[in-house]
Amino acid sequence: MKKHKVAVIKGDGIGPEIVDEAIKVLDAVCTDEEFELSYDDYLMGGCAYDLKGEPLPIETIEGCKKADAILFGAIGGEKWDGLKRHLRPESGLLKLRSELGVFANLRPVKVFDELVDASTLKPEVLKGVDLLVVRELTGGIYFGSPREKLEDRAYNTMVYSKDEIKRIAKVAFESALKRRKEVCSVDKANVLEVSQLWRDTVEEVAKDYPEVSLSHMYVDNCAMQLVRNPKQFDVILTGNIFGDILSDEASMISGSIGLLPSASIGGSVGLFEPIHGSAPDISGQGIANPIATILSASMMLRYALGEERAANRIESAVAKVLKDGYRTKDLSSYGAKEVCSTTEIGSIIADAVTKI
Ligand code: NAD
Ligand code: IPM
Ligand code: MN
Repeated sequence: MKKHKVAVIKGDGIGPEIVDEAIKVLDAVCTDEEFELSYDDYLMGGCAYDLKGEPLPIETIEGCKKADAILFGAIGGEKWDGLKRHLRPESGLLKLRSELGVFANLRPVKVFDELVDASTLKPEVLKGVDLLVVRELTGGIYFGSPREKLEDRAYNTMVYSKDEIKRIAKVAFESALKRRKEVCSVDKANVLEVSQLWRDTVEEVAKDYPEVSLSHMYVDNCAMQLVRNPKQFDVILTGNIFGDILSDEASMISGSIGLLPSASIGGSVGLFEPIHGSAPDISGQGIANPIATILSASMMLRYALGEERAANRIESAVAKVLKDGYRTKDLSSYGAKEVCSTTEIGSIIADAVTKI
């Protein structure tokens, strides 16, 4: 029997609630598969700061590096917002991504047919949307130096090397080959030098992928096109900060940010996390939607553990449960047969997975 070692970081806010449900579903899928999963818990974020005085303790980095994959919930909250930047929960996450070298963040956006009415956008705009945001994750303005906050002035640096652009562009083109073979590279080349280099480099990489069609779009236009006609997109390739913002926007195409998973890959160990945050406004109430984390667990099976069949079974179970009308509160006004708590929907999905 194959054994996969999963490092688990529950984090803050709704993190523990949603990760517990993902593990429930993973355990359910394992019962009919030829592999076993073991879980080791690690601290990161505000909870790590409270217990260890830092948001990313060394044990967490070491444990994650030794694992086959990392499943992560979310970090952050008002309680820690006043800390110095390097002590904030968010710094822990950025450091972990950087330490692991996970430069490619895949954020798929699919609209479930049953939820076309769930969005604030019109159903005819949404039906059939299936796009993938490929976000660069370990560079750009998030990591550039110099950076400083002074009394009356503050600055950050947006920087990308050609090699950093090449490697993320390759991920986008390779992903497109398995999809509709279209890459739209999103930048701000009309204003930023970084984006000019980005565009030139993406053009260069495109030469190795003649089957894939490449277009370029300015990020402001892309933000508008995503709500005007999201079906036009197959793969969106973009930098760290643009990808962060555009993917939150794109989550509303699916109906709720509680549905969008992600895979951070390309480094030593893959990190799998929902795109949303710790949702302090709803934490502890048992109403968070765990589906983004459950689908992140499915991406973990596919991308890190090579368990494609189990990954597909989880995705089918989620689709079935939504089709059957089970909804968490964020989606409760749309075709809900039954409004479920976080743990209830987790159990229903876990049960569904055993029947697929
Ligand atoms: P957020 O994504 O946590 O929440 C935005 C809104 O979406 C809130 O109304 C929240 O209730 C709702 N929401 C999010 N996830 C949901 C889910 N699974 N089910 C139902 N509703 C959900 O963003 P925010 O409020 O801007 O940030 C809160 C904290 O999270 C901040 O400290 C921020 O830095 C942090 N954050 C962490 C991550 C991460 O850990 N990867 C990502 C984004 C934000
Ligand atoms: C995300 C989050 C993070 C980011 C924060 C919490 C550092 O918003 O994963 O999308 O900006 O990358
Ligand atoms: Mn974000």
